[in-house]
Parts: sequence; structure tokens; C-alpha cells
Amino acid sequence: MFGRKKFSFNDIPDLTGKVGIVTGGNSGIGYVTARELARKNAHVIVCCRSIERGQAAVDKIKAETKNDNVEVLQLDLSDWKSTKDAADNFVARKLPLHILVNNAGIMATPYELNEHGIEKQFATNYLGHFVLTKTLLPVIEASTPSRIVNVSSLSYKSAPKTGINFDDINLEKENAVTRYGQSKIANILFTLELAKRLEGKQVWTNAVHPGFVNTNISQEFLSNQGFLTKSIIYVAKALFAMNEDDGALTSLYAATSPEIEKEDYRGKYFEPIAKLGTLKPFATNQETASRLWKWTEDLLNEKLGI
Ligand SMILES: NC(=O)c1ccc[n+]([C@@H]2O[C@H](COP(=O)([O-])OP(=O)(O)OC[C@H]3O[C@@H](n4cnc5c(N)ncnc54)[C@H](OP(=O)(O)O)[C@@H]3O)[C@@H](O)[C@H]2O)c1
Repeated sequence: MFGRKKFSFNDIPDLTGKVGIVTGGNSGIGYVTARELARKNAHVIVCCRSIERGQAAVDKIKAETKNDNVEVLQLDLSDWKSTKDAADNFVARKLPLHILVNNAGIMATPYELNEHGIEKQFATNYLGHFVLTKTLLPVIEASTPSRIVNVSSLSYKSAPKTGINFDDINLEKENAVTRYGQSKIANILFTLELAKRLEGKQVWTNAVHPGFVNTNISQEFLSNQGFLTKSIIYVAKALFAMNEDDGALTSLYAATSPEIEKEDYRGKYFEPIAKLGTLKPFATNQETASRLWKWTEDLLNEKLGI
């Protein structure tokens, strides 16, 4: 990345008195996002599926930032009951919530269903974050000004041509990258519909593509590839991938920059680093976004009674 970055850690304002939640905050982009919120004095809650990995990350953040107000909240986003329980526990504490970064994700994993019969990437990357956000929304709305950041990906372009395939949501016959793309376009469509529902409120929600970042996310995908694909990806990472610090900047911009409120950016999509991006028309279709919201509410009502 050459030239002056549009946003750097130094541009994050002081966050004393602010509370932030970062999902997948124990690793990669989420770890740096949580660490830099903590460095600016926020009370940070790192959501992780493994308490051990989460606690190790929290200890590291505390040591590096000298901020002791960092903690773990255990949840598994593919298990919506666990996610709902974690969110309910947070709500019961009666803390405010100014920043929610829906960052956790899995990429191009082999076909697998969660316990409710939904493909794992869609269940984790999109539906788990829907449950979390919806449960936390009353607190977020009571903590204005507040932000919700949904970490998507440029890979939204690999989604089916209708964006969401409502007739075949699990996409069993498609490849793992198409299924990942559908989960990531869902993050964008969710942002669009949420922004519409939050119109006129002091809650700014946006989606981001962090960039091509050298993290652990491709480990599982790579372990299922042949020598040639593995080699190409390793070389591409070495030559073109951003480091995790730069990879977190676009999320941190959407989560903290005063520019978001000044320009009233809502339902937008940002690309690295902190630049307003342009989406393909199938990712800005308000009708698909509203349909996805309704479809999701019906599914969660049927499966969890929520
Ligand atoms: N890296 C890139 O090039 C890139 C590009 C575009 C978009 N993104 C997006 O950026 C986000 C962060 O990814 P990353 O690159 O930083 O990868 P990462 O280092 O693998 O981090 C992913 C995080 O998500 C957590 N996670 C996975 N499944 C979960 C579940 N069921 N419940 C709760 N947490 C779960 C992981 O926890 P564990 O430690 O337990 O696995 C980990 O903390 C993802 O949404 C990804 O789609 C990344």
C-alpha cells in the first residue's frame, strides 16, 4: 500500500466511556480491531467461540494497550441459541453499546449444515450476526451515537446472480466460494435493510471489505486444495496481501471516524483503506434486502421461536 493512507490508527478518536463488541476478536482483522479500540480507551468485549483463544487474545490486548477493560464473551455464531444467550447475557448487564463490529467469519469451507439444516458459512457469517445484532439493537439504539459495522468481502461478487438464492439457500451443488459469496452479499443486503430501518436515528451502519489480508481465514480452504492452488495462494499472499494492521483500518474507520456522521454515511460499502466503494447492482437491490430480512425473521421464528 503506497502513499498516505486515508485513515490510520492515529485518526481513531478517544473512546473513553464507549463500549464496543468485536466478533472474532481473537484473530486476524478482528483482533487488531479490538486491540485498537482498547488502545483508545474503549471497554472492549471480544466475542469468540473458544474461551481459551479469546482469553489469550484479551490478555495480549491488555498487556499491549494497558487497558484492563477488555473481556471475552463466548459465542458460536453457527449455533444461534449460543449467540442469542450470549447477547441476552450482555443485555442483562445493562451496559451501553456504542460500537458493534460483526467481523467473525469462515471462508470457502467444505459443505456442511448447522443443527438447523443451514449451510455453515451462511449460518455463521450472516445468520449468527443477524441474531446477535437484532438482540443487541435496543441497547445500541439506547446508546446513541452508535455504530454497527458488518465485515463483508469483495467476494460478494461470487454470489449467485440473484444475490440470494431463496429457492436453494444451501447451494449444495455450487462450489464453496459461491456459498461464501452468498454469505458475504447477505452481510451487505443486511446492512442496506438495517440502515433503512434505522433511518433518522443516530445509529450508523455500514459494510466493509477489509482488503486481501494475510490472516488464518484461508487455512481450511487451503488444506483441501492441491499443490498448485496452494502454491498460487501462498505466492499471492506473499506478494499482494495486506498485513492485519492495515486490514483492520477500514473496519476501524467505519466504527469510529467522525467522518461517518459528518457525511451521514448509512448503508454504504467501504473498501480499503476507508474509501467509499461502488457495489454491483445485485448487491444494492432493496427488494432483495427486504426479502432477505423477512426470510430470516421467519426462519429464526420457526427454528428458535425468536
Ligand atoms: N482475510 C481476508 O483477506 C479477508 C478478505 C475479505 C473479507 N474478510 C472477512 O474478514 C473477517 C475476518 O476474517 P480474518 O481474515 O481476520 O480471519 P481469521 O483470522 O480467521 O478470523 C476469523 C475470526 O472469526 C471467528 N469465527 C469463525 N467462526 C466462528 C463462529 N462460528 N463463531 C464465532 N466466531 C467465529 C474465528 O474464531 P476461531 O479463532 O475460533 O476460528 C476468528 O476469530 C471475516 O468476516 C472475513 O470474511 C477477510
